[in-house]
Amino acid sequence: MDKIIIEGGNTRLSGQVTIEGAKNAVLPLLAATILAEEGKTTLTNVPILSDVYTMNNVVRGLDVDVAFDEANNQVTVDATGDILDVAPYEYVSKMRASIVVLGPLLARKGHAVVSMPGGCTIGSRPIDLHLKGLEALGAEITQTGGDITATADKLKGTTIYMDFPSVGATQNLMMAATLAEGTTIIENAAREPEIVDLAVLLNKMGAKVRGAGTETLTIVGVDSLHGVEHDVVQDRIEAGTFMVAAAMTSGDVLVKNAIWEHNRPLISKLMEMGVEVTEEENGIRVKSDVAKLKPVTVKTLPHPGFPTDMQAQFTALMAVVSGESTMIETVFENRFQHLEEMRRMGLRSEIMRDTAVIHGGEHLQGAPVMSTDLRASAALILAGMVADGVTTVSKLNHLDRGYYKFHEKLQALGATIRRVSEEG
Ligand code: EPU
Repeated sequence: MDKIIIEGGNTRLSGQVTIEGAKNAVLPLLAATILAEEGKTTLTNVPILSDVYTMNNVVRGLDVDVAFDEANNQVTVDATGDILDVAPYEYVSKMRASIVVLGPLLARKGHAVVSMPGGCTIGSRPIDLHLKGLEALGAEITQTGGDITATADKLKGTTIYMDFPSVGATQNLMMAATLAEGTTIIENAAREPEIVDLAVLLNKMGAKVRGAGTETLTIVGVDSLHGVEHDVVQDRIEAGTFMVAAAMTSGDVLVKNAIWEHNRPLISKLMEMGVEVTEEENGIRVKSDVAKLKPVTVKTLPHPGFPTDMQAQFTALMAVVSGESTMIETVFENRFQHLEEMRRMGLRSEIMRDTAVIHGGEHLQGAPVMSTDLRASAALILAGMVADGVTTVSKLNHLDRGYYKFHEKLQALGATIRRVSEEG
């Protein structure tokens, strides 16, 4: 496996960086393509990521034709004809997000068998809200031998209140409800931009989804959906990662194609710290002088709160800002493992349950560190850029799930960073 080597200390990022389509949007969009009984669906602005290859394989496993034209960032799916109703362990075990095929598969076939996703390093991540919601729509659900089997001759619209605005559960239920009989109302629904992107695709396909981006979704069931073309929304987390990278290196970076509205919670915290963030015609510009930044308190929450997917990267920024910053992680119960790795780089922090206190401003030292999950890998690379000496980040399989050519983009902005094979 590859590793990334960073020579840190006096990195100051400057220039422009372009953002890809969002991983967390394209995965449910690919699941939605199996709802189209007529015509092909083409997704454009598709990022080239290992999770996208995995989802393509999950969909292919249903006997659906999936063509990935990487040169044009385009995936074309032909789900016409008879498709299978089983998503096997072989693929689902590789990626938790595969569970979002359950809703559309059940809606289309009346029967679906999807392997139960396994353990996860960032938290326990149950899928009870997905299953309870499908049961409320009339599905009979059983779990045996590691598989979830869902059956319903015809799903029936109803009102579902979600105990927590789960992103994946909202997506599964929204897709299932598109072909249900009557009207479904999902209350306390997730409001992430990726939910809105899914609703936009479904509506183009002929669905009737209203209220995406608010806490109440109304879905009027239709008889069938058809293939369309759709451009995947920009990745707000990739954008946010580069914004934080610019802020912590006293940089001046234009994050091209980044959407201001989607990054509002992050921007507000950067500004509170003293980072200069401005909206430009073609993206978001971040300018900073680390010596002048102030410590802050941040609490992760479902959108429009501060995103848990930016928590790890933001703690790397907190590490270089003089004073005591506090990070409260309310979405996942075990998402501070990067801080344990950063301890190896000399970071002083205390973790008590969901709260981490970070004593920032002391020089970090380069060290060999290991990625523990996707966003942790990005955070460690950012920390490596400001640490004195050499930092080596291993277990890049995590990074490749969600960042396309991360080291090349940082290199182009002025970082001294390279990627080598473990042997090399
Ligand atoms: N939860 C339940 N029951 C459920 C579903 C969720 O208790 O049935 C809990 C989870 O245990 C967790 C919280 O609700 O504590 C949030 O989970 P959610 O379902 O909202 O997350 P997800 O759909 O599994 C997506 C992203 C994650 C991101 C979260 C939160 C995708 C493919 N994944 O996961 O992205 O952290 O929403 O915003 O969209 C990442 O990109 O690094 C990543 C982990």
